Amino acid sequence: MTRIIDGKQQANRLREVIGQETLGLQERHGIRPGLAVVMVGNDPASQVYVRNKARQAGEAGIASFEHRLEANVSQQALLALIATLNADPAVHGILVQLPLPASLSEAAVIQAIAPDKDVDGFHPINIGNLATGARAMVPCTPLGCLMLLRQQLGELAGKRALVLGRSNIVGKPMANLLLRDSCTVTVAHSRTHGLAEECRRADILVAAVGRPGLVTGDWIKPGATIIDVGINRIEEQGRSRLAGDVDFTSASQVAGAITPVPGGVGPMTIACLLLNTLQATCHQHR
Ligand code: GUN
Repeated sequence: MTRIIDGKQQANRLREVIGQETLGLQERHGIRPGLAVVMVGNDPASQVYVRNKARQAGEAGIASFEHRLEANVSQQALLALIATLNADPAVHGILVQLPLPASLSEAAVIQAIAPDKDVDGFHPINIGNLATGARAMVPCTPLGCLMLLRQQLGELAGKRALVLGRSNIVGKPMANLLLRDSCTVTVAHSRTHGLAEECRRADILVAAVGRPGLVTGDWIKPGATIIDVGINRIEEQGRSRLAGDVDFTSASQVAGAITPVPGGVGPMTIACLLLNTLQATCHQHR
């Protein structure tokens, strides 16, 4: 029987624990974790994410500060806002929603965030610390995937893991996290030769390429654990729905366990953002 990995339930449990911890911080030390979310422009998908982040932060006892800037804001003005947030003791985490308009440099903006407040884990210092095994703020989506995998499989050491996708937000940090847990890691991408064969060797497959239904049941090793990071909006029979990078119907005939879309990785991402904010708060008040 294939197990459907319930990310929503695990995220709810994690957010409950975070809520208890934030309450304790406030009662014992008078500290309230604060998360600043910066959004530039008005991309509709980003607006939905930002609204969800703010609501769930509030429910977990984390103060959220939203900063909405016009799409034509100058790089200088955005960097000035980040400098203000870096210096604000009520702000423990800073997240700049990506993508940014093409006129702004994402690299310069990310590098301007104080590494201790970089709850996205995108700053080169955090990426380097993760890669070298030092204490790091870890990107939220791969961290959520790792938690689902550990919950499902327990010990990950020695397992063959295939990460499909090499983005800075998911693929590369995911590979580093799996390596840190002693998996044998392969990173595959759009230029990989023999993609199906690579997938079929994997005990763990993390798909993050943004290609709806790319991974079908015949690409999957029987009993493998499948984590589907894809969130693709597709039109089907005149209706719009969300589809993952994995073809759920065929994959769930073969896999040992699989995350659904929606209700798999997505809810864990925001829960991990709250976890990173709580950890950043504790670190800043040591
Ligand atoms: N846009 C899509 N995913 C993310 C994310 O994890 N963090 C930020 N800041 N922007 C995103």
